[in-house]
Amino acid sequence: MPVEWAGFGPELLVTIDRGGAAGLRTQLEDALREAIRTGRLAGEEKLPSSRELARALRLSRGLVQDCYAQLQAEGYLTSRPGSATRVATGATAHGTPPPAHRADPPAPPPAVADFRTGVPDLGLVPRDDWAWAVREACRTMPNAAFDYGDATGQPRLREVLAAYLTRVRAVAAAPDDLVVCAGMAQALSLILPVLRRAGIEALAVENPGPGASTAEQADASGMRVVPVPVDADGLDPGGLRDARAVLVTPAHQWPTGVVLSGPRRQELIAWARDRDGFILEDDYDAEFRYDRDPVGSLQGLAPDRVISLGTVSKSLAPALRLGWIVAPERLRPGLAHAKRLTDRGSPAIDQLALAALMESGRYDRHLRRVRAEYAARRAVLIRALAEHAPHLPVTGLAAGFHAVVTLPAGADETALIERARERGVGLYSHAGLWRGPRPARPRLVLGFGNTSQRAIGAGIAAIADLLQGPGD
Ligand SMILES: Cc1ncc(COP(=O)(O)O)c(C=O)c1O
Repeated sequence: MPVEWAGFGPELLVTIDRGGAAGLRTQLEDALREAIRTGRLAGEEKLPSSRELARALRLSRGLVQDCYAQLQAEGYLTSRPGSATRVATGATAHGTPPPAHRADPPAPPPAVADFRTGVPDLGLVPRDDWAWAVREACRTMPNAAFDYGDATGQPRLREVLAAYLTRVRAVAAAPDDLVVCAGMAQALSLILPVLRRAGIEALAVENPGPGASTAEQADASGMRVVPVPVDADGLDPGGLRDARAVLVTPAHQWPTGVVLSGPRRQELIAWARDRDGFILEDDYDAEFRYDRDPVGSLQGLAPDRVISLGTVSKSLAPALRLGWIVAPERLRPGLAHAKRLTDRGSPAIDQLALAALMESGRYDRHLRRVRAEYAARRAVLIRALAEHAPHLPVTGLAAGFHAVVTLPAGADETALIERARERGVGLYSHAGLWRGPRPARPRLVLGFGNTSQRAIGAGIAAIADLLQGPGD
């Protein structure tokens, strides 16, 4: 679909050589034909008015009108009385190359319920609060804040984040310990090369654990991935072998949902001290805890060994692309350098907006609201599974917004997912999150962050017969 420029539209680049052999009209016609043939001007795109183009090119309006009339006669342009001259839809037949290949548009979400994981409710994004915060940031930031700033982040956001994380997550952080970045994805792409340059060759990850993109990031940084088993107490440090860096989700293990136990925390920290290693703590959904006490951050126990990675992707929205790294002092110069080279710092207005959102209490108000909603959804899911599939164990529900459902041994999860999809229910497998052998009983990860209470109930009811099986 062409862009529908309002008003005059952006200027059109046409070069006229006043000393050239060809006449001005010929040059203009040729330039426009060429722009249409090469796709620079797309089918149905609006051209500047003859008056506007004549003014921009310092030509007479009559010459431009003649030129448009000629191209209309040739089928390149169309015009209707009272409306703008446009590129003819069929003008591509004059040799425009086919449009560049684009990936197929994503399949529409399942009609009844989509249990996709990893996304919060996109309908509950606090748009008005964010709009207020952006306006507030823009209104109050000094002129100097529009300059290139400190690549590690706006000082005000680092101050607010340090105070917030210290208070809410028991993180040990001063403003200078923080690097603001574009979410967890960028945090990893900044920190892994820094670790690699420090001589660390392997990144241990939880198994089951992060998906393919983390492995790709490790690979791109020249690091091997070492899978380490997770049990009911979280990652087992006994499996770390020769790694000197480990990526963990201690507060709510992704995807099993278990919490890293107290003894395991101590063991992990002792391992890091012993090996001169680092623990990368992914604190992705700690804001949402339900029926157990909040779990403090691991970083607070060993700020010299733990790199804490935070994001607003679950608390606000993934599209904001805002996150932070709290790093031990010796890694900070490397991180700051990497951030400077990558993008010279995250967008200042967004950073100051997040600071305003947090400082004003709107961030917490939003969290309180969504926490209550996710808790209600979680209860609906538990009830629906208890009613329709009481024989299937459901785990991982202490925090966040996903649950793990263990299917009977030998269940064909691929067929189950396909049949559910035919009924308008999106189900997702656990299988891609394992490295090496998978457990005998297949599992589903059911996300309920972006699935309404009604959809959860209807979705589980719609696949009740598919979930039946021999059980334990
Ligand atoms: C385990 C885990 N951590 C963190 C994130 C957030 O990543 P980002 O901040 O890049 O959006 C995700 C996203 O789905 C995730 O699955």
